[in-house]
Amino acid sequence: MSNQTVLILDFGGQYKELIARRVRELGVYSVIKPGNMSVDEIRKAEPIGIIFTGGPNSVYDKASPKCDKAVLELGIPVLGICYGMQLMTYLLGGEVKPCHTSEYGTVEAEVDPSSALFTGLQPEQKVLMSHTDYVSGLPEGFRVTSKSENCPTASAENAEKKLYMTQFHPEVENTKNGKKMLRRFLYDVCGAKGDYSMKDYLARQIAAVREQVGNKTVILGLSGGVDSSVCAALLSRAIGRQLVCIYVDHGFMRKNETESICQTFEKMDLQFVCVHAEERFLKQIEGISDPERKRKQIGAEFPKVFYEQAVRFADEAFLAQGTIYPDVIESGSGGAVIKSHHNVGGLPKELNFLGVVEPLRGLFKDEVRKLGRMLGLPAVMVERQPFPGPGLAIRVIGEVTKEKLDVLREADAILREEIAASRCKADQFFAVLTNTHSVGVMGDDRTYNYVCALRAVRTNDFMTCEYAKLPHSLLAKISSRITNEVKGINRVVYDITDKPPATIEFE
Ligand code: XMP
Repeated sequence: MSNQTVLILDFGGQYKELIARRVRELGVYSVIKPGNMSVDEIRKAEPIGIIFTGGPNSVYDKASPKCDKAVLELGIPVLGICYGMQLMTYLLGGEVKPCHTSEYGTVEAEVDPSSALFTGLQPEQKVLMSHTDYVSGLPEGFRVTSKSENCPTASAENAEKKLYMTQFHPEVENTKNGKKMLRRFLYDVCGAKGDYSMKDYLARQIAAVREQVGNKTVILGLSGGVDSSVCAALLSRAIGRQLVCIYVDHGFMRKNETESICQTFEKMDLQFVCVHAEERFLKQIEGISDPERKRKQIGAEFPKVFYEQAVRFADEAFLAQGTIYPDVIESGSGGAVIKSHHNVGGLPKELNFLGVVEPLRGLFKDEVRKLGRMLGLPAVMVERQPFPGPGLAIRVIGEVTKEKLDVLREADAILREEIAASRCKADQFFAVLTNTHSVGVMGDDRTYNYVCALRAVRTNDFMTCEYAKLPHSLLAKISSRITNEVKGINRVVYDITDKPPATIEFE
């Protein structure tokens, strides 16, 4: 038995993931597919509804993404958003024109509450518009269901054919009742039953994993990050001690992190191995200060250590991965993608590789976190910030030594403790041990110690960021604690650079 599904056809809009997540929040499973998905494939997928995303193009551009008009004749309800509305209009013989005045931002729209989308809503609604074209002539059989000051067709419908369209974006928070509008589309137009929940997802995945792997061994590389940890917890429920989790401590983890990972997974119903490989990794990067070379050396050593352990447990095994839905969308392929650290060095000949197990493949990050909480993982693990594979080795600038790592661990722990205790919000924050010494004075003594840099950023996607405007009082407290409590640091600076031009990490 599978979930009722809504297809999100992607026409290049920046909100495709948001639409898919909103639909799931409303209890309906959704998947994102390319806008030109064939009618046959759509029919096979048996969706209860289809949503066309927005997109940056004009429908009259030759190169603009289009779909087959037959998609609108399948009898499946369709909601076209922004460009999706214009595309539906164009395909059905209506007219799209450039606006006299482009609309960007939240505007007041007057909606017709007799439309299925607006049932129960007041006629005045705040909606987010972002468009330079608009529908100037509706296709036959359609009627206008809302308008704004500058857009006479803010939404329209052909209720008989179950075709709906909005020029505004119901998926964003600025459209105050947008979620209610999507709910009406899903439940009243598409006939959704609301059969998608994390509990249900978990039950289905447990059954699917059991069927896929039978009585074979499954090996998982555990990094301590959210995805691999949740993957381990789920597989433990499904197959217990058939699961072998290998955690490689490369020595570049934060203070107490390895201990906390071991404590969590040693208690679970699975086989857990912690490989203490600090010396081995330090040797690999001894004397190296170039960031890329450090990364490469660490990346190449990792699978060697991992597979040396893996082959001890079975002659043949499945490899489990914490791949999540955004990895799948970005890679653009439907097949199994082996994450790069498994690819480096290839799969070992000693181990007969039976296939990949990816139980989180359908989930967004916030859903993975929710699942992690359901599975009883500790909050620190489920809420964990992104942490680079090479760990603190790329936060100690230049050559890395055990002594420098220990100094950095202490400073970083203070930063994390103080930010956690404050009400300040940052999406990622950490300390960096720069390669610079500076002169200081302590009591009557001159010191010549490291400069520690603090980094805290606000970001949604980690592709760009703004530095976090932390209050001076908080920064002063962190600085004072680090210089007083951490031997080896006599100066603290705060990084006030956005990305671009900087990156989030220093190396
Ligand atoms: P940058 O420094 O490129 O970082 O602005 C963007 C985000 O990616 C994280 N990051 C990594 N994550 N392996 C990872 O899994 C890596 O090698 C790696 N390098 C950077 C970084 O912490 C930030 O969140």
